Amino acid sequence: MKKIIALALAMLMLLCSVSALAEETQKKVLVMATNASFPPYEYYEGTEIVGIDVEIAAAVAERMGYDFVVLDMEFDAIISAVNSGKADFGMAGMTVTEERLLSVDFSHSYATGVQVVIVREDSDITSVDDLFAEGAMHVIGVQLTTTGDLYCTWDLEDNGLAVINRYPNGNEAVMALKAGKVDCVVIDNEPAKAYVAANEGLKILDTEYAIEDYAACFKKDNPLLPEFNRVLQELIEDGTVAAIIEKYIPTEE
Ligand code: ARG
Repeated sequence: MKKIIALALAMLMLLCSVSALAEETQKKVLVMATNASFPPYEYYEGTEIVGIDVEIAAAVAERMGYDFVVLDMEFDAIISAVNSGKADFGMAGMTVTEERLLSVDFSHSYATGVQVVIVREDSDITSVDDLFAEGAMHVIGVQLTTTGDLYCTWDLEDNGLAVINRYPNGNEAVMALKAGKVDCVVIDNEPAKAYVAANEGLKILDTEYAIEDYAACFKKDNPLLPEFNRVLQELIEDGTVAAIIEKYIPTEE
């Protein structure tokens, strides 16, 4: 009888430790959702996704003691991936907005973004004001559901001042601009610079459309967020975040 109990106990202990191990290895991965057509925040280098967001998130995950994987998807799908548990958080040069705060929580902000306007070099659009001019009717390319899309929709389309063409990512919007299908593209400044550098005949207008804060989004009340924030704050304070940004966006001297 004793032997049977001992055996049963040993098996129970084995089972427990195997399942604890499985749980631990499962838990030890942080999954980040992004849209990797947004250089220098996230983009492909060969088959690997690199960029500012990827490096900051990897540094946070490492210091939190987690492994780290990146899931690429349309920008439009990130918030639902986070809310369905497909990803632990989203990081995609994502702007903190009132509307998004209704469906997700945001981490501390780690960077600033500016919405700018890309035009063809010979464009007659010379400033953001031209988009707002009475009787204006430009065709504007944006990335679906980004802040560029939202502002242009509210400010211009809803007031009968523009037609908005929405693309699944920034690259496709820029290709449409090159092909003459849209008159301009409203997008974040750093990807705008990368797109203009990679494509001839385009330029960025000097005037800015909007200034915003980037942060990582989490499912509401996700218990990982306080720890993520604590570590992110440490990495901001010790200069790690600045060094990562400087690596991708060298300050001109
Ligand atoms: N900052 C803008 C927004 O939050 C655009 C972000 C697009 N990011 C991306 N990885 N495609 O709406």
